[in-house]
Amino acid sequence: MAAAGAASALSPFEEKLQGQAPPASGAAPAVDGYVLVTSANGVEATKAARQALIQGYDPLDAAIAGVNINELDPNDMSVGYGGVPNEDGIVQLDACVMDGRTLRAGAVGALEGCKTPSKVAKLVMERTDRVFLVGAGAQKFANAHGFPAEDLLTSKTRKIWLYWKERLSGTDDWIEAGREAEDPDIKEFIRKYGNEYFRPQGTIHMSVRSAKGDLVGVTTTSGLYFKMPGRVGDSAVVGAGVYSENGVGSCGSTGRGEANLVTCGSHTVVEFMRQGRSPEEACLLALKRIAEKTHNVPRHRDEKGRPKFNVSFYAVDAKGRTAAAAIWSGAKYVVGDNEGVRTLESAYLYKKGT
Ligand code: GLY
Repeated sequence: MAAAGAASALSPFEEKLQGQAPPASGAAPAVDGYVLVTSANGVEATKAARQALIQGYDPLDAAIAGVNINELDPNDMSVGYGGVPNEDGIVQLDACVMDGRTLRAGAVGALEGCKTPSKVAKLVMERTDRVFLVGAGAQKFANAHGFPAEDLLTSKTRKIWLYWKERLSGTDDWIEAGREAEDPDIKEFIRKYGNEYFRPQGTIHMSVRSAKGDLVGVTTTSGLYFKMPGRVGDSAVVGAGVYSENGVGSCGSTGRGEANLVTCGSHTVVEFMRQGRSPEEACLLALKRIAEKTHNVPRHRDEKGRPKFNVSFYAVDAKGRTAAAAIWSGAKYVVGDNEGVRTLESAYLYKKGT
């Protein structure tokens, strides 16, 4: 796998972290042997999490601090604040964290009004006797822990949602304003996501192996664009969107959640690693299962019977070996370690255009 980018300069978040003392007393700063593997949208997140590890942060806190960058970024339309809303124009967020030291996990699904669902997921893990809270209950829990109820829709995502809504049908009551398609935000959205082949969605996953060998993971998303209200994908589901177990490995996913949900993909990848497969082999085997066994209906298959959707896995094993793989070629992922942060090409099952 060729490196597509080199180690880069510190982000503002890293610079801020550098000025802070490590938070936990007795925390050991990272030394050689720590590694982070993240989806392609996680360059800044990986830089920040890597810096947090170097400063001695707990690996799960470091991973969450990393993905918080995407969650809080109003221009990242796939995660947290500024995520593309559901079909009613409401942003509903999913997230899950897992700690491989204890096999404890926490998750929230269809959470409204909170910019950082990954933090709430960790509180579910630490401050309840439960694993998964959804909807109004998750929001009530977040509010109880001091997260204010906030509007997660930005002016950009509201415009994009209205554009989508108004064009759904020529026989309903919603009418397009003239010249919307010339709006730069809408133009950019169409350029990026106008492909009918893959219904747009985005997610960030990060798995970390600390220098001590502890394995943790976090996945967070706003889910499928314009989804049905209440739809929860794989990102919030332990075993599908993330699975971490000390001594074996950690894995997470992005892509079509429904295909991954029914195969418990991240758990499957970790099980393949337990059987001795390398992270890359494990990811590819789990993707093969998805590609062959799920969504076997014409609308999800191309003319050669291959999936008309994509799923990616990101994995690290107990030895610190990392890999990512996707059903379709062209995907990338991010690795951070003692040498820096770099973007790499994911392995794949099928080459696009063949
Ligand atoms: N993988 C993200 C989702 O399907 O919601």
